[in-house]
Amino acid sequence: MNAADKAVNKGVAPVTYGTGDRPPRGDYTRARADYTCEQGWADYSREEHALYRKLYERQAALLSGRACDEFIDAVRQLGSANEIPRFEVVTEALYRKTQWQIVAVPGLIPEEAFFALLAARKFPVTHWLRRPEEFDYVVEPDVFHDLFGHVPLLFNPTFADYMQAYGAGGLKATRLKACEYLARLYWHTVEFGLIHTPQGIRAYGAGILSSPGELQYSVGSAEAQRVRFDLERIMRTRYRIDTFQATYFVIDSFKQLFEATAPDFAPIYERVRADKEIAAGELVPTDSVYR
Ligand code: PHE
Ligand code: FE
Repeated sequence: MNAADKAVNKGVAPVTYGTGDRPPRGDYTRARADYTCEQGWADYSREEHALYRKLYERQAALLSGRACDEFIDAVRQLGSANEIPRFEVVTEALYRKTQWQIVAVPGLIPEEAFFALLAARKFPVTHWLRRPEEFDYVVEPDVFHDLFGHVPLLFNPTFADYMQAYGAGGLKATRLKACEYLARLYWHTVEFGLIHTPQGIRAYGAGILSSPGELQYSVGSAEAQRVRFDLERIMRTRYRIDTFQATYFVIDSFKQLFEATAPDFAPIYERVRADKEIAAGELVPTDSVYR
């Protein structure tokens, strides 16, 4: 019996994604029915706190001129870079600002459980940290990606409302069998979104903000392809999970993102379903490309 089978018997089912054959790293026997678990802060080793600090400091040094101001202003809310934060402490400040909470999870969780947490203004953060040899790249999201990448923008009221609306929209997309299209929206905004500011293009997506290489490439490279945000276009666009994005989508403001995604998606899903998919990196005639 492998580790995955054991987890099914003892706790909730472990979650895999993509096509990898590795079992997921997390211990799903520790999770409750809603997939949340204890952070287990006392179990982090001194080496793990030190690794977190190295990740934090490398990334913090790259933020100026690349991350959006909303992110830079909020990143200090994560507390000292010296140790992995206690989720309760971050939650206290976050709850005061936008009524969001951070909850620990053993790793990736099923779509429906994820949507339900977001709809309740709870953001799931993986409790474990990558290993030292994964300093530059980790396949599954870890506490550094989830916390450093995602949590600062939850301090922004408009973005925080967008995330809750996304969770509620996910539960609806599940009923409409449209999760694939909604997942593309998440990927191209929450994970890899760029924003146009008076100072220039900046990053707000967590996948970018937690990766040194992609932060420099997506914002700074003349080769990166940047296209104006277009909801239906994004829902038609396939994405890659194993390389830098071939195209980044650029919003003008979080208000634009919130308002563009407020309408009922049911008829939009039907149009997208009937329309042709767009390959990662492909341009279409309606695209407005940033130069
Ligand atoms: N408006 C979407 C719907 O009706 C819900 C949603 C909002 C989805 C924001 C994503 C982001 O399904
Ligand atoms: Fe993420």
